[in-house]
Amino acid sequence: MNKTQAEELLKKINQEHILKYYDELGEESKKALLSQIESTDFSVIDINKVNAPSKDGTIEPLGAMKLEEINQKKEKYKEIGLDAIRHSKVGAVLLAGGQGTRLGFDKPKGMFNIGEKVELPIFKRLILNLMDVVKEAGCYIPLFIMTSEKNNDDTVEFFKENDFFGYDEKYVRFFVQDMSPSVDYNGKVYLEAKDRISLSPNGNGGWFTSLMNNKETASAIKEFGIEWLNVFAVDNVLQRMADPVFVGATIESGCVSGAKVVKKANPDEKVGAMCKKNGHPYIIEYYEMSEELKAQKDASGEPAYNYGVILNYLFRTDELQKIVDMDFPVHVVEKKIPYMNESGEFIKPESPNGYKFEGLILDMIMMLKDCLVFEVEREREFAPVKNKDGVDSVVSARELLKKNGVEI
Ligand code: UTP
Repeated sequence: MNKTQAEELLKKINQEHILKYYDELGEESKKALLSQIESTDFSVIDINKVNAPSKDGTIEPLGAMKLEEINQKKEKYKEIGLDAIRHSKVGAVLLAGGQGTRLGFDKPKGMFNIGEKVELPIFKRLILNLMDVVKEAGCYIPLFIMTSEKNNDDTVEFFKENDFFGYDEKYVRFFVQDMSPSVDYNGKVYLEAKDRISLSPNGNGGWFTSLMNNKETASAIKEFGIEWLNVFAVDNVLQRMADPVFVGATIESGCVSGAKVVKKANPDEKVGAMCKKNGHPYIIEYYEMSEELKAQKDASGEPAYNYGVILNYLFRTDELQKIVDMDFPVHVVEKKIPYMNESGEFIKPESPNGYKFEGLILDMIMMLKDCLVFEVEREREFAPVKNKDGVDSVVSARELLKKNGVEI
């Protein structure tokens, strides 16, 4: 792409300011900027045209497999799950491409030390949890780690420096997710430097596309013969991955996906709840819930939308292949976006200053025909690290780790 072509393209989408400093750049920087403009997908940044998640549709409750039932059939499910794991049918996908802006930690979130007296980076904590299953199954589980352009090098380096925290590195693969531009409140794309647009990871919804677009990871999925992918967030330090009981229960249920859920702490808790929308499994966000839905009860007298997702899903890979080319909704999310100001200084804002455009993994569930809603004990499996303190924070996660007897 040359300068004239870039100007034409940017004029059409009202983003001419991206070339504001072009003439003062050196040759290398000019090339870099033009090539970034060429490879950037600007189609998502029009807030008015974005394929927003639909607000219409009939919401109904979706029953969960509750702890009591799970405990009764635990051994049976575990055997089914372990059998699938031993036949390398199960892969684990760690979503670690996020920027963790709420935590405000400069490095990848997985490098954050959740320990107090001991050094316990979140990545280590997760690998130790997965090792429990490795020991039980007697084999390693293929682990795919999604990073972004922003944190890939740091993440890979950290795993190497730490000898993969004892995990067999033959079973670990990294892949990088796609990026998308971020804009200010007037819809203008932010610049990060005079020769660079500010790009940020395009949300956790693109994980399967990125996984399959990467030759190495796509062929690993084939070679291992992986039929199920367990996908989970980096920031839940009590996360149980490739949990044989969950895997077994989902396989036995005949569903094409499963979601670990916890009973909501209260009807106003800010987590998405499992339900059905237009007959498909769906995750209703807390801000979408009307007072009427909040008050609705099921046959046993419990709130009908009582089970919140914890970003731990199981998907059948052949079913994901069927939906991968569908048009996923794009969520416009207000965030803190580092940018270059008028004086050419790089600014890291303290509060939100614009929008990012993200695809979310929860929308994949809605594209599928069914989902096993699988209850887990909140106190044992849910300790998210989103903020420095307060709710879902370093402080609350440390408390929960201690309660679970983890040495920190
Ligand atoms: P969050 O929604 O908490 O986003 O991610 P975040 O970027 O990590 O943090 P904030 O909102 O800026 O504070 C939930 C999970 O999805 C992953 C994160 O790494 C985390 O495991 N994620 C999120 C990605 O892998 N890619 C993304 O683009 C966004």
